[in-house]
Amino acid sequence: MTRVVIARDAVEAGDVAGDRLAEVVRAHRRPVLGFATGSTPTTVYRSLARRVREGEVDVAALSGFALDEYVGLPAGHPESYRSVIDRDVVEPLGLRPGAVLVPDGSASRTDEAAREYDDAIRAAGGVHLQLLGIGSNGHIGFNEPGSSLASRTRVKRLSAATRADNARFFDRLDDVPTHCVTQGLGTILEAEELLLLAFGESKAAAVAAAVEGPVSSGCPGSVIQLHPRVTVILDQGAASRLAHREYYEAERVGR
Ligand code: F6R
Repeated sequence: MTRVVIARDAVEAGDVAGDRLAEVVRAHRRPVLGFATGSTPTTVYRSLARRVREGEVDVAALSGFALDEYVGLPAGHPESYRSVIDRDVVEPLGLRPGAVLVPDGSASRTDEAAREYDDAIRAAGGVHLQLLGIGSNGHIGFNEPGSSLASRTRVKRLSAATRADNARFFDRLDDVPTHCVTQGLGTILEAEELLLLAFGESKAAAVAAAVEGPVSSGCPGSVIQLHPRVTVILDQGAASRLAHREYYEAERVGR
């Protein structure tokens, strides 16, 4: 079932997630993590990097897969998810180059590259733990509302809402790519464990729909309810529209 942890703030949430990531890395000879990009996971990556520096966890054998990539950004563009993953994950954790794969959004053969990405995940033995953020419209990865719950990695059009949300990373709205390559909802559900994080009131409606609403392609994040091993880590704002908040808090401390 879905475990909901309501943290004081994003820093505490990052530490709760960092703890779990470190446990998963220690538990496997060849750990495989699924990495999200965007603003949400930055405190998680900082927490994990601190544990690596302090010798609490060894990431020499760690590899991973990113959730998604924009289509059409030139190689090396600072907002391509390849660059973001290198900046936020590969460099701070000191991973070997090539340890984290990101879908290929530059190729003219994106459909074929998307299929190969799912194959690469399978060939690695699957993802032990998948980190997820959630869009204010309920997307996970870039599976926008209406996405098939069984979808595989593929090219998708970004919704107007997502392009507007992500315009903060670009000079102008027009610079935000219109398409992406994203792991599908079916692909994401194959990870052994899911950790979804969300911060701020702008995410509160999407979080309530994902955790407590009906499972529906109208809120792609609601597919987490189909997974047997999920933890949702929120700050106060993102938790503010949960109907059963008191229940989750009581359950966490064993009352
Ligand atoms: C990013 C991703 C997206 C983001 C979501 C939230 O790889 O797959 O689902 O997690 O758009 O973005 P932020 O964290 O920037 O609010």
